[in-house]
Amino acid sequence: MALVVLDAVDSPDIMQTMTKDQHGVAVVGCGALAQMMHLPHVVSNPRTKLVVACDLDRDTAEACRSRFGAERAETDWHQVVASRDVDLIILATHTNLRAELIVPALHAGKPVYTEKPLANSIEEMHTIVRASRETGVPVCVGHNRRSSPAMLEFRRLVEKALNGARPTAPTMDRSVNRAPIPEESRMQILIRINDDCRSWKDWIFHDPQGILYAEMVHFIDLALWLNPSKPVKVFAEGSRCGNFAIVLRFEDGSITTMHHSLSGHFDYPKELFECTVRHFSIAMEQHIEIRQCGFDDEPALKVFPYDSECSWAVQKGVAGYFREMEAERRRAKAVGGNPKWLNVNKGHYDHLDRFLDCIEGRGSNPCDAADSVPVIVVAHKLQAAIDEGCPLSIISDELEASL
Ligand SMILES: NC(=O)c1ccc[n+]([C@@H]2O[C@H](COP(=O)([O-])OP(=O)(O)OC[C@H]3O[C@@H](n4cnc5c(N)ncnc54)[C@H](O)[C@@H]3O)[C@@H](O)[C@H]2O)c1
Repeated sequence: MALVVLDAVDSPDIMQTMTKDQHGVAVVGCGALAQMMHLPHVVSNPRTKLVVACDLDRDTAEACRSRFGAERAETDWHQVVASRDVDLIILATHTNLRAELIVPALHAGKPVYTEKPLANSIEEMHTIVRASRETGVPVCVGHNRRSSPAMLEFRRLVEKALNGARPTAPTMDRSVNRAPIPEESRMQILIRINDDCRSWKDWIFHDPQGILYAEMVHFIDLALWLNPSKPVKVFAEGSRCGNFAIVLRFEDGSITTMHHSLSGHFDYPKELFECTVRHFSIAMEQHIEIRQCGFDDEPALKVFPYDSECSWAVQKGVAGYFREMEAERRRAKAVGGNPKWLNVNKGHYDHLDRFLDCIEGRGSNPCDAADSVPVIVVAHKLQAAIDEGCPLSIISDELEASL
């Protein structure tokens, strides 16, 4: 279903002239995510210039051209690939459009930032990885949480725990004369996602792969990014539409459990990551707070800013979030209207900015197409596991890109 921008205003003033250091960007697929993240970020990033807003739906493309100051609107992505003034494409359609656009774009020398999932099938994924390797032109997959400041800090602490830091003694310690057991060095991660299906668009109720594929690739990616060992077995139970539990077992005996719920409340913090390993306990909640026990040289609690659009909220961390939301609900009730959404920084802007560094040869790709191979493989295995009702093994070869 086409989505037209509701508050579009004709604002030619924001159309900037492109400097020679800027990347000319086309956004293909100007739906909800592009309007909330990619289009405003391309406009606000001094390194990029919005050249094309492209959407199958002409009204949507035109509305985005007008609202975000793109030079032109298109409805046919072939025009985008052929455009000489476009040197970076952001692909923000669903997986209905992936290799079909990405492969010719790479052959035309245009790097592509594609939304997740990288591909709909294993075969399509290999086609994209192969094209990127053959042309040497990079693809970045929009697993943006890898660039969330709080997530990067969480990963730093997890790595520090894994790499031999000594945990503080617990207040209750009966281990003095006991030999260590293997479990003490295995990593247990819990990823809890509280979601509210009242906030989702219609497709999740009809898409046969459901949230178990389209959304969980984000969290599968993080599980694989946080665990140094390879996944060897997976299991999923529940409804792929959104109420399910997932278990990933790794070669070194570590286990990651993911719990996804659609019956929660949207205003409750959505994401909780908890890692325990080598007697460190580390949690990252909703990209705004990190808590830890075990490190003497790190703060027990650290807070992170909200999304830059939410400067009205000044109380930080999870406790601050609840106080701000309560005050905002009261304010909205008193004056009428909906409370404002207190959004957090999940790394969308930084992920694109890091990809620009990669394109300019000044940094590594924050998530290249080959990084997504194990993610897509595990996501497909989970689909099969939920159908068959039993755990499924993963062999090492399946995790490699086929060239
Ligand atoms: N990274 C994140 O945090 C995040 C969040 C939400 C969605 N997403 C991903 O972003 C993608 C889009 O999600 P959405 O919620 O914005 O969907 P949406 O349905 O709101 O938008 C998709 C847009 O693509 C357009 N489109 C479809 N086929 C096209 C084609 N061939 N050429 C040009 N335009 C075409 C549609 O008309 C629509 O406007 C999905 O892959 C989704 O998984 C990522």
